[in-house]
Amino acid sequence: QRFIVRLLSCPGTVAEDLRRDEQPSGSVETGFEDKIPRKRFSEMQNERREQAQRTVLIHCPDKISENKFLKYLSQHGPINNHFFYESFGLYAVVEFCRKESVGSLQNGTQTPNMAMETAIPFRSRFLSLKLKNQTSKQSCIQSSNQLPPSNRKLFELLCYAESVDDQLNTLLKEFQLTEENTKLRYLTCSLIEDIAAAYFPDCVVRPFGSSVNTFGKLGCDLDMFLDLDETRNLSSHKTSGNFLMEFQVKNVPSERIATQKILSVIGECLDHFGPGCVGVQKILNARCPLVRFSHQASGFQCDLTTNNKIALTSSELLYIYGALDSRVRALVFGIRCWARAHSLTSSIPGAWITNFSLTMMVIFFLQRRSPPILPTLDSLKTLADAEDKCIIEGNNCTFVHDLNRIKPSGNTETLELLLKEFFEYFGNFAFNKNSINIRQGREQNKPDSSPLYIQNPFETSLNISKNVSQSQLQKFVDLAQESAWILQQEDTHRPSISSNQPWGLAAVLLPSVPNRASLTKKKRKRSANERVKNLLESLKSNRTANFTETNEK
Ligand code: CTP
Ligand code: MG
Repeated sequence: QRFIVRLLSCPGTVAEDLRRDEQPSGSVETGFEDKIPRKRFSEMQNERREQAQRTVLIHCPDKISENKFLKYLSQHGPINNHFFYESFGLYAVVEFCRKESVGSLQNGTQTPNMAMETAIPFRSRFLSLKLKNQTSKQSCIQSSNQLPPSNRKLFELLCYAESVDDQLNTLLKEFQLTEENTKLRYLTCSLIEDIAAAYFPDCVVRPFGSSVNTFGKLGCDLDMFLDLDETRNLSSHKTSGNFLMEFQVKNVPSERIATQKILSVIGECLDHFGPGCVGVQKILNARCPLVRFSHQASGFQCDLTTNNKIALTSSELLYIYGALDSRVRALVFGIRCWARAHSLTSSIPGAWITNFSLTMMVIFFLQRRSPPILPTLDSLKTLADAEDKCIIEGNNCTFVHDLNRIKPSGNTETLELLLKEFFEYFGNFAFNKNSINIRQGREQNKPDSSPLYIQNPFETSLNISKNVSQSQLQKFVDLAQESAWILQQEDTHRPSISSNQPWGLAAVLLPSVPNRASLTKKKRKRSANERVKNLLESLKSNRTANFTETNEK
């Protein structure tokens, strides 16, 4: 044996500012590409969670022979699959065929001996492989890419595409989560679950939000939900005879206080013992209390919440909408990238529109087409059977879970038309009096004066875009109008390849001139025309210099 495996207690440097352009593209097998997921959400989540439990994360030396590495690990049992990726060092994700192999590997693993510092002994599935002697020379390992494409690459891909439809599908293919990235997300949740299980042995840490709802872009955050339902319900199935046994527990005045106490302790634990968990912040006074931290080795920014079951249900609803028609995800990715390119969204919380709100707007728009491309939530509720019935905290969250029971849409509109019409629709939407409601699929009077009102589909008294200011909404409306106009002016055919001109989607991803809001509509149209001319001129001389940041974070 030439390697020693060590429990990693002191990982490397922060992996947030990854140098995007320098990453090798590697072999990328995508999670959803060309195939629309037909599996039930819960089935997909359970399968992936079980895979993650048989998986380990190993920090490897830079120079390593893949064959010898696999041979060394195989002594603990057969390996189902593996991949390598780089994130300030080389990492391997290794999935064994059997769970026992993980235990066997851990039993042959030691805690590092530090010269200057003291390692806190902690047994996890995040390991570090050391070379006993420095003889290994080979290093022809293919790394899997975990990052979105650089602006330059994206720009080129879009300019060389055949049509706007092709551009939107290209964007989707480049930005969607890869199979490997999805595996890494489930593994990270599984590693955090092990830590939380020290307190709550039956807990489950589930990913939710864009990591699982089919709308996640490479680089998006990892939303985690600490599910304690098993612990809570354990005694309910074990009642027999005249007796009922209950756990002795501590009581607190409210669910919110219980949530805060649980997250506070888990936050401390992650901070003190969680290998690779850095920058742990306990944000317990938020409407939805959370622990935010960065998982260095995977490079994910993580938000851990608990008592947030409805968010998991809305992730499932979006998963269903994303799976129903191949145009949905392409359009959502296009709009998310457009919003990011124009700084309408941000990774910092504030008065801006969120990706979640944008997705709801796209879904609503697709419900409004004739014939509709997506069904309303109420019609998904009508299709539900007894098994689908779900009430969470008094809210009716019932909808059909079996994708095969939903009839496909007869609408055949192209993505190009839908993109144009999306901008047109929201460029002229009566935001001052109407709210967006995907449950009924039609505008309703706003119940309050929030500039943007998008009804939460399950907690129907809540507005998911309550944070959005009037000026941010105006910026969105102005940009939507401008983008609709740019797309309308364009020749429906792309320019010749030699002209190197940004066209179609690439043209609407370009930055626009500030102070737009103060212009009147007419002026705006005239000056937009001039600006586009100027931009095209400047791009002729320097094709990519003006292309804005379109990457997520
Ligand atoms: N959520 C919600 N109400 C809100 C905000 C969020 O119900 N006002 C839920 C949604 O299910 C959302 C999830 O919390 O998908 C995670 O929120 P967030 O990370 O903000 O959005 P994502 O959809 O994950 O998008 P992103 O890629 O920007 O992280
Ligand atoms: Mg998220």
